[in-house]
Amino acid sequence: MVFWLGSAEFDREKKHRLDGKLVAITGASCGIGLSTAILCAQRGASLLLLCRNLSKMSNAAEQIREKAPSTQILEFQLDLADTKTVSNAIKDIKMREIKIDILVLNAGLYFYEPTECLYNINSIQVVNHYSHFYLLHELLENLKGSEDDPARVVALSSMAHNGANADGAFWKTYSSPEELATELGTGIKKIGMKAYCESKLANILHMREMAKRYPEIKFMSVHPGVVNSEFGQKIAQGESFKGTWLGWFMNSWLVHKFFSTMIKSSDQGAQTSMYCICAPEAESWHYYKECATAEVKIKGSKNINEAQEELWQLSMKFIDENCKN
Ligand SMILES: NC(=O)c1ccc[n+]([C@@H]2O[C@H](COP(=O)([O-])OP(=O)(O)OC[C@H]3O[C@@H](n4cnc5c(N)ncnc54)[C@H](OP(=O)(O)O)[C@@H]3O)[C@@H](O)[C@H]2O)c1
Repeated sequence: MVFWLGSAEFDREKKHRLDGKLVAITGASCGIGLSTAILCAQRGASLLLLCRNLSKMSNAAEQIREKAPSTQILEFQLDLADTKTVSNAIKDIKMREIKIDILVLNAGLYFYEPTECLYNINSIQVVNHYSHFYLLHELLENLKGSEDDPARVVALSSMAHNGANADGAFWKTYSSPEELATELGTGIKKIGMKAYCESKLANILHMREMAKRYPEIKFMSVHPGVVNSEFGQKIAQGESFKGTWLGWFMNSWLVHKFFSTMIKSSDQGAQTSMYCICAPEAESWHYYKECATAEVKIKGSKNINEAQEELWQLSMKFIDENCKN
């Protein structure tokens, strides 16, 4: 099958425990994030959920408690499309002096939502990279580990980074949404996928740069595989396909059933994240796929180190301009 490339399983016997550790996860309301939360709870971790939708978050917490009844769960609202909510979550976490052992930057927006601007930047970059960058930047002092067992940060990237142009046109701030539309185009079909690919490259470069600057913490990025999460449904229900025969087709029970047998379940999709969260041998700076290191491939005229440096500067600028609230 086209999508089915097998699935590595990490530590089936659950020998690697997370007792006494706090794992914070963005986008834990469904899909790979929720599976990761459950798998961490089953290894004894406490959880800090960071989700945009309060009722989905409390539903997720219920599902976690069903699978791991004694789990301590903290819930914080955070919408990565709105830096004020990110600031509020950061303030709350700092005020309560919460020590985080592992932070999973999992939440992600696909190309199904309107590719409009937030803060005069393509919205997919803001949600998938810039707001995560801000969150991590501010929570660094809450990430506590030891020399033997460092704190870890795991970012959900994608093999889709292969399609990105490292010149980073989508990472830039434009003077107005109109200028962005003129330079990059509009609409999900024209620029949605390109924007998504660039955001997923940003996730990898972010972790590599952090690894370079903060060697006392482990920073890793992950491709989870092609996973049967809410991703497909959200594409089918999104603006491009809503009300069309293709949307209906993609949403139909039969098609759903058929594709779900060809791609990974969310639990399978969470395995490489679990490897990076638990495995002592998982190394900082690397990009992982199927619980093993994988190659990062980029396109465009910039080399990877130049692109990484440029993204860092743009990300610091994003904080200066949009997160001082
Ligand atoms: N599924 C795949 O095949 C695949 C492949 C490669 C990489 N990935 C990556 O894996 C990660 C998880 O994706 P998934 O497949 O589990 O997708 P999913 O089921 O759609 O879950 C995405 C999560 O991100 C949250 N989210 C979206 N926009 C947000 C925002 N503005 N603020 C806060 N949270 C937001 C969603 O919240 P709501 O519940 O409120 O929507 C949800 O919890 C993503 O980063 C994705 O890029 C997935």
